Amino acid sequence: MNTKCKYGYLLRFLVTLIIAMAVVATRIVVLVTAQQTAEPLTGNWVVRTSNNDGTFRTTYLNLTQEGSRITGTIRVTQFFYHITENTGGPDGFTLTASMMDGKSERKVQYEGKLGGDELHVSTRRRPTDNPTQMVAVRAPAGEGALPARNPLPALHKVPDNGLARTPPMGWNSWNKFAGRVDDPTVRSIADAMVSNGMKDAGYLYINIDDTWEGSRDAQGNIQTNKKFPDMKALADYVHSKGLKLGIYSSPGPNTCAGYEGSYGHEDQDARTYAAWGIDYLKYDWCGARTLYTDEEMPALYQIMGDSLLKTKRPIVYSLCQYGRLDVWKWGADVGGNLWRTTGDIRDAWDSMSRIGFNQNELADWAKPGHWNDPDMLEIGNGSMTETEYKTHMSLWSMLAAPLLAGNDLRSMNPEILSILTNREVIAIDQDKLGKQAKRVWQSHDQEIWTRPLAGGAQAVAFFNRAPDTANVTVKWTDLGIDGKWKARDLWLHQDVEWAGPEYSVTIPGHGAVMLRLRR
Ligand code: GLA
Repeated sequence: MNTKCKYGYLLRFLVTLIIAMAVVATRIVVLVTAQQTAEPLTGNWVVRTSNNDGTFRTTYLNLTQEGSRITGTIRVTQFFYHITENTGGPDGFTLTASMMDGKSERKVQYEGKLGGDELHVSTRRRPTDNPTQMVAVRAPAGEGALPARNPLPALHKVPDNGLARTPPMGWNSWNKFAGRVDDPTVRSIADAMVSNGMKDAGYLYINIDDTWEGSRDAQGNIQTNKKFPDMKALADYVHSKGLKLGIYSSPGPNTCAGYEGSYGHEDQDARTYAAWGIDYLKYDWCGARTLYTDEEMPALYQIMGDSLLKTKRPIVYSLCQYGRLDVWKWGADVGGNLWRTTGDIRDAWDSMSRIGFNQNELADWAKPGHWNDPDMLEIGNGSMTETEYKTHMSLWSMLAAPLLAGNDLRSMNPEILSILTNREVIAIDQDKLGKQAKRVWQSHDQEIWTRPLAGGAQAVAFFNRAPDTANVTVKWTDLGIDGKWKARDLWLHQDVEWAGPEYSVTIPGHGAVMLRLRR
């Protein structure tokens, strides 16, 4: 074979090889493309729901479909779930997704099907819930992903800000108004607090809870949403009434209601609050759980504790993380003036009494500047009786708890106002010694709690947790009270004759009797 012929074969062989490779490659591309088009649920899907204040709640379903298997994640603004179970396909599927929230598992279920370019889904937390219907559309890959975890600072003791020497008193928007709070409401609540005598009785803070937040501007500054056109002007107004203004945020990327949190913007937000004239911050864990564990809470709360101090403005710092990780043991160290000890209160005897009577073990952690917070008052919200609301006020005052009214101050009846403004009971709550009451006696559903007061006085509260009237007779010495005292009934506003070593009292069902004893 001559050289020319040899090269001819080689050339033909190479051309054939290239053609064969091209055919195989094309087949692979065709196959992969076919596979992709056969997996129509794969992709990043988004549902945007308007909050009607210029902000949106978002749900991202980041799905990968491989045959009958659907995996991926679901982010509902402040929650981040992993899909753990699935059935079905594009014509009808069910997904169960789960996340850990501290020690408890939170689950959510989605049912849906593909309709053209849209994913029609309905969601519910429990099988008995009414499903919420939504339509998701395709979003660019990566949109809605969680931000990266910022490194945590080493722990140190945040210096005491010197505020809240007695438990804070005021009003908070959440229990009554939730997402409906807005600028005009806050102004009219401030007006009411002054005109109805609450301010004179000691109520001071007007606290805006969740849902005031807008988005961030190009420099990362937090803005208000449409409900609060000018926070500085609102603060000026509240201040002009001799009151103080509080606000709310989260150490996480989002708040509990899914609004913008302070994550990664702590110094900047604290400076914004100070510039607006904010006097109180409630800082709610919620959205931080997508990135951090409960054990990491102190570091995240410390960041904002430091940020608030740096502003040099006196801002009361209220920790809200539902009492997890025994917050009473470290709340003061991260700069907290008060810390929630429980989950959310509801306007119901069961909720209020379960929370209130469960605070005994925490008594020794309360002190001037640093208080246990069994959550805001529900007095006047309508689902408890006046007797029960008196018990709520009595118990919270015995507990040296913050007294943050949670009702509509513009439209309450005189009985509710007189419960909230009972100065003799408020004086127990605000006692300078700052000692939280303890349970000293219990028999069936009746309990007696006592609290030492400044100047050697004491408060004694007799509670009846049963629904029917109860008669209680006790020896004062069984309550640790020796000798003769002058007693005053703080709800009847009259002195009580000291009748010797025993005391008998009739307590209405779910009711309370409160005495102040002095030598
Ligand atoms: C949590 C808090 C509540 C309230 C809401 C607002 O549930 O515990 O007190 O602030 O968030 O979203």
